Amino acid sequence: MTAQQEKLYFPVDNVTLYDLFDWKKESTWREKLSGQTLTCWHDHAFTDPPKFKSCRPAIMTATRVKVNGHELALFRFGNTVCAIDEKCPHAGGPLHAGDIEELPNHTVCVRCPYHRWAFSLRDGKCKEPDFHGKLFAKVYPVKVDLCKGQIKVGFDSFHPSCFQDCIE
Ligand code: FES
Repeated sequence: MTAQQEKLYFPVDNVTLYDLFDWKKESTWREKLSGQTLTCWHDHAFTDPPKFKSCRPAIMTATRVKVNGHELALFRFGNTVCAIDEKCPHAGGPLHAGDIEELPNHTVCVRCPYHRWAFSLRDGKCKEPDFHGKLFAKVYPVKVDLCKGQIKVGFDSFHPSCFQDCIE
């Protein structure tokens, strides 16, 4: 049995692959936006620090979801969906509001909107600044049904909140 098969996969409610902005097509969007800076500013619940508030168009580029009791940020890159913990491990910045960037070594990263640190969407390692693999954001395996667009996220176990009703 592979590590991926041993995970418990939970479906993402109300969001499919086709609801997500495809960062692989970002260059096309940049052209359409006539040079505007492309960043996420769709979630009004998120309170942005004033220094990042300027020049943000209202474009949905990522989604914050709750799956198996975990707050996650989902990003689409082609037909791949990446799931990463919503809270940045540096100081809790909202990663769903970050930009996706392909580094010169082709690592696809999310840049936290607070201090612009870059986390690999493959293994969660902080790449900029480079902590030599010692600082991580938690990433999760994702399965996508390309016909229906359904997204499922893998976890090692049920979140304790799943059992709350049984205990009370
Ligand atoms: S809170 Fe994310 S880089 Fe500082």
